[in-house]
Amino acid sequence: MRPGAIVIPISQDVRHSNEYSPDLLADRLMKLFGAGGDAIEHDLTVERRLSAIIQDFFGMARVSTDVQVRSLNEMFNNSRIPSAPADVEGYIDDLYEKVIRHSINTSSPRYVGHMTAGVPHFVWSLGKLITALNQNVVKSETSKSFTPVERQSLAMIHRLVYDFSDAFYDGHTQNRNSTLGIMTSGGTLANITALWCARNSLLRPVRNFRGVENQGLPAALKHYGFKGAVVIGSSLMHYSLSKAADVLGIGAANLIKIPAGPDGRINLPALEKAVAECRSRDLKIIAIVGIAGTTDTGAIDPLPQMADIARRGRIHFHVDAAWGGPFLFSNEHQHKLAGIQRADSVTIDGHKQMYLPMGTGMLLLRDPGAARFIEKHARYIVRPGSVDLGRRSLEGSRSAGALFLHAALHVIGREGYGLLIDEGMRRAKYLADAVKFRPQFELLALPQLNILVYRYIPEQLRAKARTKDLTRSENLRINQINTRLQKLQRNAGRSFVSRTTLDTTCYGSDTPIVALRAIVANPLTTEADIDLVLNEQALIASNLSRT
Ligand SMILES: Cc1ncc(COP(=O)(O)O)c(C=O)c1O
Repeated sequence: MRPGAIVIPISQDVRHSNEYSPDLLADRLMKLFGAGGDAIEHDLTVERRLSAIIQDFFGMARVSTDVQVRSLNEMFNNSRIPSAPADVEGYIDDLYEKVIRHSINTSSPRYVGHMTAGVPHFVWSLGKLITALNQNVVKSETSKSFTPVERQSLAMIHRLVYDFSDAFYDGHTQNRNSTLGIMTSGGTLANITALWCARNSLLRPVRNFRGVENQGLPAALKHYGFKGAVVIGSSLMHYSLSKAADVLGIGAANLIKIPAGPDGRINLPALEKAVAECRSRDLKIIAIVGIAGTTDTGAIDPLPQMADIARRGRIHFHVDAAWGGPFLFSNEHQHKLAGIQRADSVTIDGHKQMYLPMGTGMLLLRDPGAARFIEKHARYIVRPGSVDLGRRSLEGSRSAGALFLHAALHVIGREGYGLLIDEGMRRAKYLADAVKFRPQFELLALPQLNILVYRYIPEQLRAKARTKDLTRSENLRINQINTRLQKLQRNAGRSFVSRTTLDTTCYGSDTPIVALRAIVANPLTTEADIDLVLNEQALIASNLSRT
């Protein structure tokens, strides 16, 4: 253990006792649920232990230990359920040793590789509150005051995107028949829900037809005179849209992917052509999907032009702003998302650039009535006319995680988020300049948001890389080096940058280019951390080139 680290007593294994008589066991279980009045004191003991563990974990000046997942698997191979109960402290000690120490410090300033960063500390306490109260926002009877909190939080984000009038929000925010947005466990479910609303609205019930939700897709298409259904977006759509096409019966093969250009933006003439072709082949276009922040490079599609195309064709326009949405908070950068307010639906992830815990996804709906097409009822809850949020949600039981969003909108506020975004962009620019300045690296795309793709170039190929004259086989060799470099950096655990493969570079789609992918969002990442990450990469790569 590092000098100065907090010493946490570690048990060899979770302490199980087989000495419980049935009475003792019953007594113990009651205590676990708080009987006997000493629950608070017990909780404080556990809390102190957890605080020490968390402090120790964050005190590690590393992203992770160098222990590899393969060796951790061994510790979790036993599938027998322990028969006797363990004491909570012992369990936590064991957890610390086997799990927590080896988890990823996503808060580390040198962890700049994925869309996950640390959370502000006030949400730790809110997490405890949410777990303790254990509200279920599927229905008002298990959440009551949390239902309006969720609705208000969604209305605030709706306003950020659409900025309708005060009268609009006065009329819809708490109106049980209006749905300004739907909380989801993430961007994936938000994207699926968006296309679900679009599909059900387009193939809705009429006269003697009970709608796609009752009759199924083949019957609905037949009824409306279509030969198939498609969704159209760029080749850089997040893979959650394939899941959406799959679960909605559209079929992942009918997700039409229009090539993106070297700037990562959809090719508009190709989009128009695809729309016209679908029309001529009697294919129903369920939605056109625009991306505000592609997963790989943070590129933003030309949203205003896509909105025009969608409007001309009377097609649902969905914008996946899971990553880019919070740029709307920034006065300096919100112009990059111009056109988003013309979308019929928008996905934003709170657990990405709003620094909220996992599980804070959102779908915003321009038309407060759009979600009525997915409404479902049951006799015991979500009855017609109820205020239950579960009436219009793909998920059933859900936690009151909207409280994280609600709290952050108050505690950080619009200006606070604006500043966090501006700072992220400033540091992404610093990284771009640092990459350009170092001859070892090649910048693969100018950052539109705070995601940067670049790669290491071995010395003997640098001149050709500068003039973009590398051959396919040279590029493939460089790919191998960058793949190994990224793995070595990851496995060493001191810093982290992710990797992806691009087919939108100047080398064309037949030459996939392995890119190092940095995401500069952690507010604690400094310019010195960025230099350190790059220096470590340069060192690993130069050692690699020598072997
Ligand atoms: C653009 C985009 N959309 C959707 C998603 C899916 O979000 P989640 O992982 O929260 O389901 C991601 C995740 O990275 C994303 O980058």
